[in-house]
Amino acid sequence: MAYRIQLLETAQTFIAQAGESVLEAALRQDQRLPHECRFGGCGTCRIRLVEGAVRYDEFPPGLTPEEAAEGYALACQAQPESDLVISAARHLPPCSEPARHVATVKAVRPLAEDVLHLALEVPCEAELLYRAGQYINILLPDGSHRSFSMASRPHPQVLDFHIRRIPEGRFTSGDAARLQPGDRLPVELPHGTFCYHAEDYRPLIMVATGTGLAPIKSILESLMDDEDCPPVSLYWGMRTEADLYLHDEIQAWAGRLCDFRYVPVLSRAGAGWNGRRGHVQDAVLADVDDLSEHAIYLCGSPAMIGDAKRAFLARGASIDQLYSDSFT
Ligand code: FES
Repeated sequence: MAYRIQLLETAQTFIAQAGESVLEAALRQDQRLPHECRFGGCGTCRIRLVEGAVRYDEFPPGLTPEEAAEGYALACQAQPESDLVISAARHLPPCSEPARHVATVKAVRPLAEDVLHLALEVPCEAELLYRAGQYINILLPDGSHRSFSMASRPHPQVLDFHIRRIPEGRFTSGDAARLQPGDRLPVELPHGTFCYHAEDYRPLIMVATGTGLAPIKSILESLMDDEDCPPVSLYWGMRTEADLYLHDEIQAWAGRLCDFRYVPVLSRAGAGWNGRRGHVQDAVLADVDDLSEHAIYLCGSPAMIGDAKRAFLARGASIDQLYSDSFT
């Protein structure tokens, strides 16, 4: 059985064969749909079902049941059960196409016991190398790659990263820890659709766990000293006080963002911690009764993002004003 899929924005159509996902069918027929992970985790390929129905072999972790109930689907996992009309519209600012470069290590230093700061110089002619919030792939000799979000505002050449050491992680616990200034690394960028949506001008709630802070920092740095910057509330969830590797620097951002509030939230705080405790998403819920007037950016663990999405939608947030980037 084959189904006909029509893109609402362009009226172009393509055909999905039995068992084929919407994304597989689109790519096979040269239709561009945003996508990244292709296993249902990142949410980048989210589409709106205008007409028709889809099914999943397994319900994807990057979609909440509430989103599905509102007519959204993940194209990389959704298989048509009928002809479809879909909308894939989500305005993204212009940016360079991904390209390969050879980067030079400019600096490596520890930020915390398990987080490295890595600065790479990337020679590039492109005027805009990446959008704040996007990520780079570091290409490894065995053909695999590791992805890291840029942690600084778009800059023509020097890019900052926060590399969290993963136990048993060959790159993060091995190669990255041995990098020296002057070393060269093949890279590919930019990737990712997580970025600031200036057209969605509302007070910002930004929620990060761990090094999910990196793309949020990149976005906020791109808004610094901009008098049109909306009010920003940044919630950063970590386990212990020692994990808050940019705590002092973030507090200084208040001088460069129009209306900035910083709320660190610790899940395993010691007795001396006077700040917020618990899950970071719960701190947002404790502070804001109605989320319908906010643009919300979530970056960090899939568990936090799934919980936050469910709870925030129930608190009035709009799916169309909720942007997320999920990684482990
Ligand atoms: Fe579909 Fe990541 S590409 S969820």
